[in-house]
Amino acid sequence: MTECNSGWNLKILLALSVMLLGATPARADKELFVKLKCSKCHSISTLAVEKIKGSADADEEGEDEEKGAEPPDLSHVGANHDAAFFSSYLTKKSAHTPHADVKSTSKHKLKFKGSDEELNKLAAWLATLK
Ligand code: HEC
Repeated sequence: MTECNSGWNLKILLALSVMLLGATPARADKELFVKLKCSKCHSISTLAVEKIKGSADADEEGEDEEKGAEPPDLSHVGANHDAAFFSSYLTKKSAHTPHADVKSTSKHKLKFKGSDEELNKLAAWLATLK
């Protein structure tokens, strides 16, 4: 019985450490992604971030969604780009660098509207999505 209990405790301890060390910062950045309305166009299926459809029209600026590329799911976007790319691409300083999933050589649809701090945080976080 004691053996059984200690095994259980270890499991709880492990789960707690994972929550504290891993999930908390990731969750904050996921919230940033949603707050900055990235999820208006992009899903991140591995993190259960769903694309919010319909909210686009109600928003201040009418971003042109009528033509052009489908926004990709960003679950593994960090496998294809690094943080430096994200900062530059999201602020439209540079165009997309093509890879197997997204062949585009265009600039991003939308110019980043958050602060520099938010941009750095978001760029670093996107680079971890692999
Ligand atoms: C109005 C819709 C829209 C919004 C809002 C939007 N995006 Fe995009 N995004 C796109 C489209 C469309 C593409 C594909 C562009 C292409 O193929 O040229 C794209 C491409 C990307 C890519 C490249 C993906 C890859 O695999 O190469 C990244 C990264 C990205 N977006 C991040 C973001 C982030 C972060 C935000 C929030 C700050 C955001 N997007 C908001 C439409 C949007």
